[in-house]
This record gives sequence, C-alpha cells and structure tokens, in this order.
Amino acid sequence: MKILVIGRGGREHAIICALKKSPRVEKIYCAPGNGGISCDAINVPIDEMDKEKMRRFAKNEGIDLAVVAPDNPLAEGMVDFLESGGIPCFGPTKKAAQIESSKIFAKKLMEKYNIPTAAYQAFDDAKTAIEYLKHQKKYPAVIKADGLALGKGVIIADDFEKASQAVSDMILNQKFGSSGEKIVIEEFLTGPEISVLCLTDGKTIKPMLSSMDHKRAFDSDTGPNTGGMGAIAPNPAYSAEVAQQCMEKIFIPTIKAMESEGCAFSGCLYFGLMLTPNGPKVIEYNCRFGDPETQAVLPLLETDLLEIMEAIKRKRLGEVEVRFSKKHSACVVVASKGYPKAYSKGFLISGLDENGQLNGAKIYHAGTALENGQFKTSGGRVLGISTTANSLEEAIDLAYDAAYKIRFQGSWFRKDIGKKALEFS
Ligand code: AMP
Ligand code: GLY
Repeated sequence: MKILVIGRGGREHAIICALKKSPRVEKIYCAPGNGGISCDAINVPIDEMDKEKMRRFAKNEGIDLAVVAPDNPLAEGMVDFLESGGIPCFGPTKKAAQIESSKIFAKKLMEKYNIPTAAYQAFDDAKTAIEYLKHQKKYPAVIKADGLALGKGVIIADDFEKASQAVSDMILNQKFGSSGEKIVIEEFLTGPEISVLCLTDGKTIKPMLSSMDHKRAFDSDTGPNTGGMGAIAPNPAYSAEVAQQCMEKIFIPTIKAMESEGCAFSGCLYFGLMLTPNGPKVIEYNCRFGDPETQAVLPLLETDLLEIMEAIKRKRLGEVEVRFSKKHSACVVVASKGYPKAYSKGFLISGLDENGQLNGAKIYHAGTALENGQFKTSGGRVLGISTTANSLEEAIDLAYDAAYKIRFQGSWFRKDIGKKALEFS
C-alpha cells in the first residue's frame, strides 16, 4: 500500500515509524514532512493546508490511505476534500473535527449527553463575560478561546483582574484571531491529568495506552503553555477502575453522542482528562493523535497500525486487536531557545547519526531540516527523544542520557519529565 501522512512534526514521524513496521506498506510519503522524517518517508513539498495540491498528488500517486494528523487541516475539511476525490483517509470529517475546533461545540455536546466535564458558560460579548466574572466568587477561573490556538488558548486566571484581561485579550484584542471571538469560561478543576488516545470507527472504541503530557514550558509545571514538552506512558494515575469509569461514563457516551448528532467520529479521538475528587472529567477533546503523547504511546504498540487504520475505514475495528507491550516509555522534547515564544532557527544539531538517530533512543524529529547531510533546527520543538524500558524510571533515565548528548545553539529541555508520574506510582 502507498500511504500519505499529512503533517510535519514529531507525531507524524512516530506515526510513520509505526506504519513502516507493517509488511503491507510499500511506500510512505509525508507532506510536507521535515529533515528527520525524510530518513523514513519520502517528503512531498505540499503544505498541510493545501487541499487542492494534496488531492492532485494523492490521485497521481495512487495513494491507498491518507493519514491526516494535525488539527488545522482536519478542522478545515481535508478529509472531506480528499475523500470526495476518492482518496481513503484516516481522520474525522470537518463536522466531526468540531469536537476539537470548537470548545463550545464540545461543551454543549457534553452537557446534552451528561458527559462529566467542568461547569461552563459560553460568551461572544466581552461586556457580558466580564459582568459574569464580577459575580463569580470562585477563582481561579479558566478562560478558553472557542477555536484552535496552538494549544495556547487557555488562560487560568487567579483573580478578577487577570480573568477580565484574558476576556479582553481574546474577544476585543483578538489575540487568537477569530479563534477567540467566542469564549468559554469554566470551573477550575484539580487532580492528575491523563491523556487517553482512543481509536474509533464511530461505533467501536478502543483506548490506547494512557499517557501524561507536560504542557508547561518549565520544570515543576511553571512557565507558559506549550504544545507539550514531554510525555510518559502508561500513566500511573489511570488505574483499571478509572479506565472502566472512563469507558462507561466518557468514551462510549462521547462516540454515541457524536453519532446521534450526525457526525460519527472516525479516527483517533484524544481525551484530555482530569481525575478530580469527583471522578474523571473531560478537560478537552482533540480530534487526532496528541503530540507528544503519540511519541510515547506508539512505540509500545505491538499490533499492526496499518491493519488497525484499515479496520477503522471498514468500520470493523471490533475485529482487530489493539495490543500494547507491558513496558514503559518516556519522551523528552528538546526545544529551541525562546520557545513557545519567538525563537531562531537554522542551528546545526550535533549528536545525531546520518539517519538523525542516536544509540539507545528513538529520535522523532519535530522541527529539523536536512541540508547537505546535516541536521539543522527548523522549529520550536526540535526533537522528541523516546525510549522504552521495563520500568518508567529506566525509560526516563535512558531518555535523559540521550537528551544530554544532543546539542545545538540554545537547546534546552525540561529536566522533570515523568517525575510526577514516578511520585504517583
Ligand atoms: P487544554 O488546551 O484545554 O488542554 O488546556 C490546557 C491546560 O490547561 C490543560 O492541560 C490543563 O492543565 C489546564 N486546564 C484546562 N481546563 C482546565 C480546568 N477546567 N481546570 C483546571 N485546569 C484546566
Ligand atoms: N499534547 C496535546 C496536544 O496534542 O494538543
């Protein structure tokens, strides 16, 4: 089979490496890909948002399956567009992708179908929202832009001043462009966070291994929110009992709700959960594989990812096995100086071999370019260093051993990936 993976980050690299293990894969293309990805797939210089070019390429090459990985093309209907041209896709339609692209859509869905989540109010007018905040007694308050905002559209405001500033920034000052024209103000929840990436064909849902993201830039969960600075899997907070509660109260009700609303979800549905004193609640849905969770979860998948994706296309997920190894994994992200704010690119990366790899770890490239046989930085998150081992502690140690061997001007990484999980286990 000829596969086209759409996207350019560490998540896409991990998906490609998992698909490559399938004996039925003949060729994998990645559009647009990155320097490191070119060692495992054929890069195609088409922007992930360019539907017309993507469809033309897929038709000309006779692509058997296109995997649409990032949120933006999914939200803009890449799947609908490719499928209307006869290209089978893995990923949700534009309508189903609303579960991520509109927080208000997601909150209304959860409210209507009694899926546990933080209490909320939606607003499209700053004055009304600020008036509401004035009467709000409980702080912090959580202010969220309705639309996509690179994982940065959530503000946790400790007091009225900060909360009303966040409202003004979003609705009046358009800090997140049209994504912040509407907002959600929600109740602040506490508890360990758990990510569960679930495979679903719209009827059957099979959770993958649980994981834990590290969203804040700096150690001890300080600093600004990022796309994710590291992940571990499985998440020790996700006990068998919690897993069962999630299945009964959250996962199954969500796919049933999507079907009832006429937008059955097909692909990978990501549940961002918080294990509150009142049980697990949904913090957010993503309509896709998470980044960097995928770089921690897929290395532990023992069954054939292509077979699973094909079964989802045929609405026969119930017939295939989704099995994970009993090992543990860790992924440490090495980033550019300045990220998640402005950063420079083009720095030479030392420590990698000619395939962009390093002994003792699997390196997933997130933001690299390959120029004259040399890897250079080309993004904020540059590399994800993934390891697997018999214990979480060992996986973390191996990942840091490798991380310290990689250098480029201004390179940095969090030093405490998995620390919270170790304390929990
Ligand atoms: P999101 O982009 O929705 O995942 O939010 C980013 C981060 O903000 C989450 O991973 C949580 O740590 C935090 N967060 C979001 N919503 C809430 C909430 N209702 N209560 C507490 N923390 C939250
Ligand atoms: N790791 C969270 C995300 O993929 O948005």
